[in-house]
Amino acid sequence: MSRPVWARINLSALHHNLKRVRELAPGSSILAVIKANAYGHGAVDIAAAIQDQVDGFAVAGMDEAVSLVDAGINKGIHLLSGFHRNDELPLIGQLGLIPVIHTWQQVEQLEKCALDQPLQAWLKVDSGMHRLGFRPAEVPDVMERLSKIPQLAQLRLMSHLANADDVTDPYTNQQIDVFNTVTRAYSCAKSLANSAGISAWPKSHADWVRPGIMLYGCTPLADRDEASMNLQPVMSLCSKIIAIHQLKRGDRVGYGGDWCCPEDMPVGVITCGYGDGYPRRISVGTEVWVKEHRAPLVGRVSMDLITIDLRQIKQVNIGDEVELWGQNIPVTAVAAAAGTISYELLSGVTARVPRKMEHLIAKI
Ligand SMILES: Cc1ncc(COP(=O)(O)O)c(C=O)c1O
Repeated sequence: MSRPVWARINLSALHHNLKRVRELAPGSSILAVIKANAYGHGAVDIAAAIQDQVDGFAVAGMDEAVSLVDAGINKGIHLLSGFHRNDELPLIGQLGLIPVIHTWQQVEQLEKCALDQPLQAWLKVDSGMHRLGFRPAEVPDVMERLSKIPQLAQLRLMSHLANADDVTDPYTNQQIDVFNTVTRAYSCAKSLANSAGISAWPKSHADWVRPGIMLYGCTPLADRDEASMNLQPVMSLCSKIIAIHQLKRGDRVGYGGDWCCPEDMPVGVITCGYGDGYPRRISVGTEVWVKEHRAPLVGRVSMDLITIDLRQIKQVNIGDEVELWGQNIPVTAVAAAAGTISYELLSGVTARVPRKMEHLIAKI
């Protein structure tokens, strides 16, 4: 028998969020970002669920792309970090993968490689994030070099926004201006917007948008919550109560014993811990959802278990379901309580947690 901890993946919510992307960026093709196992949701199942409604998928590297191809995903698969060795190029050509080119080394590797199949690719421009991409001044030269590579059938231009989640930061407009100025001379398709760009910076939409976190139902903006953005959570991390203890005032709970019962009280034990991806650094008082109520965490998170204060919950029993995050407890709030972001919690749900694909109609 497996432990009662699972991630419920609501495919209806995924479709709803994809519709939101279309509403916000109606003129753009959609490159759904499903790297890191679709932010922890299960890349193959997520891709299969939306492949008829998007224009391509973006992953971080070859391993992720190959497992999608092996699973029969036949939409264009784009490699956000390109390739790292020239012996990857034949496989990229054979599988029809679409790499992002961001270094001169990759240009040289392309020049030297005789591919049997024509290749599509993106050229990445560094418009100000200073992570991947060619500096604006290098773009004419690299475009010139790439134009002479016969196997390069289609080239597109992209960049990435560094701080679009802060709608007050003028840096995003500067990045948009840099990208537009550098790419104006080229008629190829262009892409700049991540979820925050899609949501708050219409000028960034261009020909392709690249939504990640908003597909999974989390707000990409620092000052807006999911409800106000009309996004629905796709993942609910669920578990069950496996023990209930009537403890006495002063009893210590969990490792270190640094949480003590302030009075005689019931404490519930839940099968979920940092070994499942629930963050150990979370603060006491972070809430979980039990029997239509919120119950605060007490004691430290251990590898397989957490403990909760059941004083406010009547008629609770062993076997009752608990939501750690999802429809009632936004993962964004749990992430904030752990000093991190929803991206880290979602992509950090570990392999031992089964993902269960379901179609659920959202609660209004
Ligand atoms: C190049 C690129 N585009 C798009 C995205 C999607 O970003 P978000 O999840 O914020 O929408 C990412 C994610 O990190 C990325 O690296």
